[in-house]
Order: sequence, then C-alpha cells, then structure tokens
Amino acid sequence: MNDIIRSTAWQIAKLRGHYIQHERYDPLKVRFKLLIEKRLADIASGRKTEVHGIALSGASGTGKSSAVAQLIASSREDLAQSSLPSAAIISLRVPSPATLKFVGQTILRALGYHLSSERQAWYIWDLVRHQLREREVLFLHLDEAQDLSSRGTRQELDAVASMLKTLMTDEEWPVGILLSGTQELENILNHDPQLAHRMDTIHFASLSPVNHAPDVAGLIEGYARRAELGLAPDALEIALSERLIHAAAYQFGLVIEIIIGAIEIALLESGDHLEWRHFKLAYEVRSSCADAFNPFVVDDYHRIDTRQVFKRGDE
Ligand SMILES: Nc1ncnc2c1ncn2[C@@H]1O[C@H](COP(=O)(O)OP(=O)(O)OP(=O)(O)O)[C@@H](O)[C@H]1O
Ligand SMILES: [Mg+2]
Repeated sequence: MNDIIRSTAWQIAKLRGHYIQHERYDPLKVRFKLLIEKRLADIASGRKTEVHGIALSGASGTGKSSAVAQLIASSREDLAQSSLPSAAIISLRVPSPATLKFVGQTILRALGYHLSSERQAWYIWDLVRHQLREREVLFLHLDEAQDLSSRGTRQELDAVASMLKTLMTDEEWPVGILLSGTQELENILNHDPQLAHRMDTIHFASLSPVNHAPDVAGLIEGYARRAELGLAPDALEIALSERLIHAAAYQFGLVIEIIIGAIEIALLESGDHLEWRHFKLAYEVRSSCADAFNPFVVDDYHRIDTRQVFKRGDE
C-alpha cells in the first residue's frame, strides 16, 4: 500500500509541474515580451522613455499566477541571452495589510535587501527605487494586486496608484509593472486614468460549457495519457467535460485541479483506466459534499453553486 501511495504522489507531483500552454497565454506572452524588448532597445540606445505595464485580471482559479510564473521563468531565460544579461524581473505577492510602507518593505525583501531598522514610508520607497536601478530590474510583478485597493480609502488608493506611476516614469530607471489579480484589481486602474493610460489590460475570461467542452475533453485525454491511464467509455463523453466545467466554477485552472484529483483516485485504486466516477469522487474529496450537491451525480447540476464548498445537504 505504501508503495502505491508513494508512486501516486510522485506521479501527481509530475502532473502538477506540467504547464499547459493555453490560447489565452499567448497574447499575454506577446505583450510582455514586446515590452521587455522595447525596454532593452531603449536602454541599448540610451533613450529615456516611459515604460508601459500590464494588468492581468480574472476570476480566482483561472490560472493567472501560474501563467505569470511561467512567463517570468521563460523571460528570465530570454534575458540571460539578451543585450543586458544582468537585467532582472522581480515577482512578489502583495502583502497584507497592503499599506504603502509594508508593500515597499516586501519589494525590498524580494530584491534581497534587508532594512536594519524601522524606517518611514518615503525612505523605504526611495530605497526601493534605488535598488530597482542597482539591480537593473526591468519588470516588477505584483500578484494578488487587488489587495492594493482593498483598504479602500481614497487616500490610500491615491498613494498606491501614484507610487506605481512614479516607478514607471522614473527618469533614471523606469520599471514596468505587471499586476495580476481578481477583477477588483480593475478598481485601481479605474481610479486613476493616468495609471490606466500606462497599463495594457488582459483578462482571462471564464470557460463556457458549450464552447470549451471539446478543449476540456482534450485536457482529460492529455492528462490521462501523461499518467499512463486509459479512458473508460464514460470518461470520453462530452457530458463529462460539460459537468467538469461547471464543477470547476468555469475556471481553467480548477478544471485541471479536478482532473488531477480524479487521476489521483484512479492511481490509488491501482486502476489502469480513468472513469467518470473518479471525477465524482475527486469532487467529493474537494468539497466534502453530499451526492445531491455533486455535479457529476445529479442531472440538474446547473443549480449547484460550485463556488460554495462544504454543502452537505444537512445544513
Ligand atoms: N496552464 C496551466 N497548466 C497547468 N496547470 C495550471 C495552469 N493554469 C493553472 N493551473 C493550475 O490551476 C490552479 C489554479 O491556478 P492559479 O493559482 O494560477 O490561479 P489564479 O488565477 O492565480 O487564482 P487566484 O486568483 O485564486 O490566485 C493551480 O493549481 C495551477 O497549478
Ligand atoms: Mg493567484
């Protein structure tokens, strides 16, 4: 039994480590790489220009963090071969609470700089700008950027927006900003037209059962193949993909999580085929729901709110 658990864990780790190049990734990649190349060209020619940034929004579980992580890894490889191999891209998650000071401190830490004593916000941000230039940072990625606006006061939002603008318009060393987060991230841009004007926006839309079921069927097939599992006839039904999209609250990344969950159960059973019931069980494991709330069981699954987990039917 231990052997099965261990080999399953290894297989799952391998599946989770695999990144699927989806169609929504390409526009993001093209935009980002273009901005980097423009910046490199400006640096090489000694031109001082303002830089642009990107705001990537989408619902939770759609795959924003994964897409940006993939993009940054591949861009770092490109940079190593570029005209400025020492250039860097820094990525961090917006801390909580997202005060101006705390955000600045977190950026410093991501830059590998440790503050020796308590400092005021203006001092920290001066240091941030200095360090970004020293380290030749071309892009700064802030994940969960919606939290920048969550404190809500107009004053705080003004301060954050103006800080981002300052970084992008720095005369000595402008830094591009990549923001990723849920839809509320758009509040920051809507709040400040000058900032919005410097940001390109990309949205990862939700999946639609009608349009995307065939793609999702392809995903199931691809993942099963990678796990060296065959597909039972009921796992080939398009209805399974439609239900899977619903079970995943229409989000691409969550579709993948449930597929991997189903594969995990099949591997633990030592089976050699992936079946419909494995999806049902995977959903049950995720949400500990009763059958009446499992979209792989009931016929009128559309009524199930799959954003709400922990529905057992007895509450
Ligand atoms: N292209 C992909 N290939 C493989 N797995 C993916 C891909 N995109 C997302 N995933 C998986 O989907 C899950 C959710 O993705 P991710 O965390 O990137 O979503 P998110 O949009 O950042 O969500 P949140 O707003 O909650 O942070 C993760 O487990 C991730 O591994
Ligand atoms: Mg994320």
